[in-house]
Amino acid sequence: MFVPRQGKHTFNFINNLYSKGEKVIDFGSGIGSNAKLFSPDDYIGLEVNKTRILESIRAFPNYNFISTPLISTESDRLPVKDSAYDIIFISLCLHHIDSKTCKLLFREFRRILKKGGCILGIEPCIMPSSTFSNIIMNIIDRGDYIISEADYTAMYESESFNVDPINIVRTFGYNLWQYKATVSEKGNINKDYFTKKTRYREIIKPINTFLTYGKWVPLIYIIFLLLQYLILTFLY
Ligand SMILES: C[S@@+](CC[C@H](N)C(=O)[O-])C[C@H]1O[C@@H](n2cnc3c(N)ncnc32)[C@H](O)[C@@H]1O
Repeated sequence: MFVPRQGKHTFNFINNLYSKGEKVIDFGSGIGSNAKLFSPDDYIGLEVNKTRILESIRAFPNYNFISTPLISTESDRLPVKDSAYDIIFISLCLHHIDSKTCKLLFREFRRILKKGGCILGIEPCIMPSSTFSNIIMNIIDRGDYIISEADYTAMYESESFNVDPINIVRTFGYNLWQYKATVSEKGNINKDYFTKKTRYREIIKPINTFLTYGKWVPLIYIIFLLLQYLILTFLY
């Protein structure tokens, strides 16, 4: 329903961490609006939604976008080569994905990253000191898994990534956590990790569902009135 509109400084951190010539995967590239952070020669956007891929190709014809299947089992693969990318950029995606699937994705990220490569990411996060934001984000966002910085970090660590927080930017009621994750030198450690929906989400989800689908209620009501009128006029 709503992608946090990208405040002016939301993606500035990329400028300091990406250099032209570095190969980039933008995972969950959506309608491609972040492609312009990178050089067209370096960039591949991966997206599961085919309509969004078509929209991206139309809007950013110089860039490369590839449709990817959903990753849901250990044998699923992203359609890109092993050890070939310097950066995986992931923006506003993880909070739509349950922890079991995130862990499968992180294994795929480890496979496709070059040695010394990194993940650069940004996600909305729950903050103990920001009750108002926590409520607003859960009202307007469709993502069921807006979790805390500590929980995102623990999820990465359970799949052998080290996480360096960069900053938290506030934009349009959102707290957006920017981070860098790198493959741990300790090797592949796969620990159990499970995140469920936060209490915020459990309580607020009905409001979010109503806002998402409730817009159809007036239309359905008008159709109902129209049908009722037609039936009463022509049958009786
Ligand atoms: C809020 S949009 C963000 C798009 C873009 N990255 C941006 O920052 O504008 C979330 C994206 O995540 C993708 N997505 C959601 N669940 C996914 C999943 N399980 N696997 C892969 N992509 C997923 C959606 O298709 C959508 O394009």
